[in-house]
Amino acid sequence: MSHPFGVDRATATGRAAEQPDRRTAVTAKRGRRGRRAARDDVQPSETRPRRPSGRGWGGRGGGASQYLQAPDMWRGTTVQVCGLWPFAIGSGSPVVGVPLGRHLHSGATVCCDPISWFQRAKLIGNPSMFVLGLPGLGKSTLVRRMVGGLAGFGTLPLVLGDLRPDYVDLVEAMGGQVIRLGRGRGHINVLDPGESVEAVRRLRFGGHAALADEIEADAHGRRVTMVSALLTIMRKTPPTDVEESIVDQALRLLDRESDQVPVLADLLRVIQAAPPELREVAVDRGSLKTYQKITGGLERSLTSLTRGGRLGEVFSQPTTTSMRRDRPVVYDISGLKETDTDLRAAALLACWSSGFATVNVAQAMADAGLEPQRHYFIILDELWQALRSGSGMVERVDSLTRLNRKVAVGQAMITHTMSDLASLPTEEDRMKAAGLVERAGMVICGGLPQAEMAKLTGVLDLSQIEQTMLQSWSSPPTFDSKSGAETEPPGRGKFLIKVGGRPGIPLRVLLTDVEKTTSDTNRLWHAISRVGQGQIDPEPAAEVLEPATGLDLHADDPGNGLDTDPDAGLDIEPDAGPDPACEPDGQADGPRS
Ligand SMILES: Nc1ncnc2c1ncn2[C@@H]1O[C@H](COP(=O)(O)OP(=O)(O)O)[C@@H](O)[C@H]1O
Ligand SMILES: [Mg+2]
Repeated sequence: MSHPFGVDRATATGRAAEQPDRRTAVTAKRGRRGRRAARDDVQPSETRPRRPSGRGWGGRGGGASQYLQAPDMWRGTTVQVCGLWPFAIGSGSPVVGVPLGRHLHSGATVCCDPISWFQRAKLIGNPSMFVLGLPGLGKSTLVRRMVGGLAGFGTLPLVLGDLRPDYVDLVEAMGGQVIRLGRGRGHINVLDPGESVEAVRRLRFGGHAALADEIEADAHGRRVTMVSALLTIMRKTPPTDVEESIVDQALRLLDRESDQVPVLADLLRVIQAAPPELREVAVDRGSLKTYQKITGGLERSLTSLTRGGRLGEVFSQPTTTSMRRDRPVVYDISGLKETDTDLRAAALLACWSSGFATVNVAQAMADAGLEPQRHYFIILDELWQALRSGSGMVERVDSLTRLNRKVAVGQAMITHTMSDLASLPTEEDRMKAAGLVERAGMVICGGLPQAEMAKLTGVLDLSQIEQTMLQSWSSPPTFDSKSGAETEPPGRGKFLIKVGGRPGIPLRVLLTDVEKTTSDTNRLWHAISRVGQGQIDPEPAAEVLEPATGLDLHADDPGNGLDTDPDAGLDIEPDAGPDPACEPDGQADGPRS
């Protein structure tokens, strides 16, 4: 491609060369009188402005360039660009999808998201991606960008379990549904068939019996799986086959008995009543004592769940807010204590189950032509928290990810390192977890330590240069001796997009001003710690006297957790409980520094 200045220079020189010739010809024609007249007409010539050469200004202080750099590629609408842009060059990455940032080497715009790359660019085999990278390097921020962009393209984001929360403000800003779960915040009834009941009725009415049966079977299966999952998490071992069959049969009985949505207490009641259908499944050979022996363990576990045991409080009550299928949704489970890993894992499972059930319903309605085809972008962030909570969790994610092409769903799975996956208890789980990465349509890697490379190269083709690049992004931030503060980590916002064996696309995610304020997950740490200043109110307000929940005390406040100004109001850290550092003006400081 010729340099922009090249065109002008050539034209200008051409014209300058032409002009004297033309003048000579004209004067020769006019003869002597004409020449005199022409001499009288001649105006003092204008001084031509100096122009830089093709390599810039020459001469002293000019700074002419030795090498011509490839111009950056930009993308704009025809309204913005207004005409043909003559400086386009081939770029290493397709300009299809959500604009993420700049190519690290060429500066070109990089656009990428699993749905556009699968649907429009046809670059990947399935619309899923796996994001790996050390904490704090911007994985959630990258996915937030995709969520925002894809929502603009008409895809509905579903964040099935936001543990931080990283996505609540974004979904709220998009007019989506925020479902809060946690003790005292909201419940999710694991026996709730959700929107499937209404969908089955409409499908049957419309003459789509096969689809209706499918949805009914799916909803039933999910409920049984969820009860089994709760039992597994509680007991640390999965329930026996007989116990699962009893739960399955008891649920069918409950559905036949009444139109009401059952809760776990109803399930317990039916099992205790020992109806003939259940005794048959239990194979008690006519002895009630044998039946009671078989169901004893199940009864004990369900009693614990319904009496509000560790898990029961969240899962045994009627669902507070039902998930909708026509708008962005986020399950906010940030109120669950970080130390309560079982509860977090169970909540994540319940969110996934409910989310995928809803997507299934939407797909069936679209297949029947009763509703428009909707595309969803499902986000499973902090995947490691769910995976490490017990065996069987990998299988659950695995089965979910195999669905995505059939049910118009794009997925993003986010975790820290391959070690999260390699540290699972059984070999089977580890293999399945590695399969998650292998099968993902694309893998996006942030900074990772050297120890990760062996594991990563087992599932992903990474050149030596790419490995070195990922390692360099995992370096700790340097210390700014002037301010005495740490600078930004060198790998923040830098990612490598890998699709199969192709060379990776390294990019830097550039945040907009709005994103800079809303995606700041470190906002609780902006206020300088001031322990010892001020006094704790001797008579705190009534609601502050509920530390046992360990939850954000302002759960109902729509602005909760989104406050960009940490000094603006009382913002008690979720797990902190009553913090002695709370000042009367409502500022909660971080741990003493
Ligand atoms: N591209 C970026 N440019 C500047 N800051 C960023 C960028 N990406 C993330 N951050 C900041 O880094 C911090 C951690 O980001 P986050 O997305 O939560 O990381 P992770 O999910 O990897 O733990 C946040 O405060 C966020 O605002
Ligand atoms: Mg994150």
